[in-house]
Amino acid sequence: MTSTTQTINISANLNEKTALVTGAASGIGFATALLLAENGCKVALNDLPGNPRLKQAVDAITSKGYQAISAPGNAGDEVLATEMVETAITDLGRLDFLVNNAGTPGTKSPIPAHDLDTPDQNFWTKLLQVNLLGPWYCTRAAIGALQKTGGAIVNTASIAGIYGNGSSSTYAATKAALINLTKEHARAFGPDVRVNAIAPGVVDSEWECRFERTDEFMSKIPLKRAGTPEDYAEAILFLCAGGRYITGETLVVDGGLTAGPSTQV
Ligand SMILES: NC(=O)c1ccc[n+]([C@@H]2O[C@H](COP(=O)([O-])OP(=O)(O)OC[C@H]3O[C@@H](n4cnc5c(N)ncnc54)[C@H](O)[C@@H]3O)[C@@H](O)[C@H]2O)c1
Repeated sequence: MTSTTQTINISANLNEKTALVTGAASGIGFATALLLAENGCKVALNDLPGNPRLKQAVDAITSKGYQAISAPGNAGDEVLATEMVETAITDLGRLDFLVNNAGTPGTKSPIPAHDLDTPDQNFWTKLLQVNLLGPWYCTRAAIGALQKTGGAIVNTASIAGIYGNGSSSTYAATKAALINLTKEHARAFGPDVRVNAIAPGVVDSEWECRFERTDEFMSKIPLKRAGTPEDYAEAILFLCAGGRYITGETLVVDGGLTAGPSTQV
């Protein structure tokens, strides 16, 4: 059996718990919402209003007999994100976990760091709004409810936020700032609320920006494959439901891609 076909082997009793996952209509967000729901959690799935995949995602979870509701809203808009979180908390009845996962590369192909023109003001504004201010808006709207339950926040960052080399320098900068915000909020909201992040590497999702995955590149990943959304969801479940002495951390989940070159001589 290869690791891609292994089932997720961690579980938690999340009956009576609730979660809000942003950017949950596809990819890591959907896999996280499903995994939380499979473990008994009632989940609110957020994505952009009008995205038909949001209803499909909610239906996919409820049709399996798990509890899920829709929480549409632009997570990168201060007013809409705040309203979305407040409505979701009211609908859920309480909030135990906030997964700030919505993100955007804003480009269909990588922009090299030496290109200072393509990432214009609009590009910077969009990426800052969605990737950095979005988690800030949602955290601000949710923190009171999370303090009541002794909950947890998990932010989806990126290895680009640590090492660069993502879809653009702008993207890398927003994710680096999100990693820093994770530490700030961990210090600010402990001991009641733990705040952590994951830093995904290569993801098998419908991410807008397409990277060329040459055999040479893929062979450099010690686990020899891209991460599935379920691989990342497993790490998020751990940081939500487990990891009770972990806060302020960014867990790199990249199959070993950034573990460094082989030391074999
Ligand atoms: N795919 C990658 O290569 C990669 C690598 C590292 C980190 N990440 C991060 O993982 C997270 C999830 O990405 P994914 O790979 O699952 O991609 P995805 O495209 O499958 O999912 C992203 C979801 O976020 C939603 N979204 C975008 N902007 C939003 C907004 N303003 N409000 C609400 N929802 C919004 C999209 O509609 C989409 O459903 C993102 O934060 C991304 O930055 C992705």
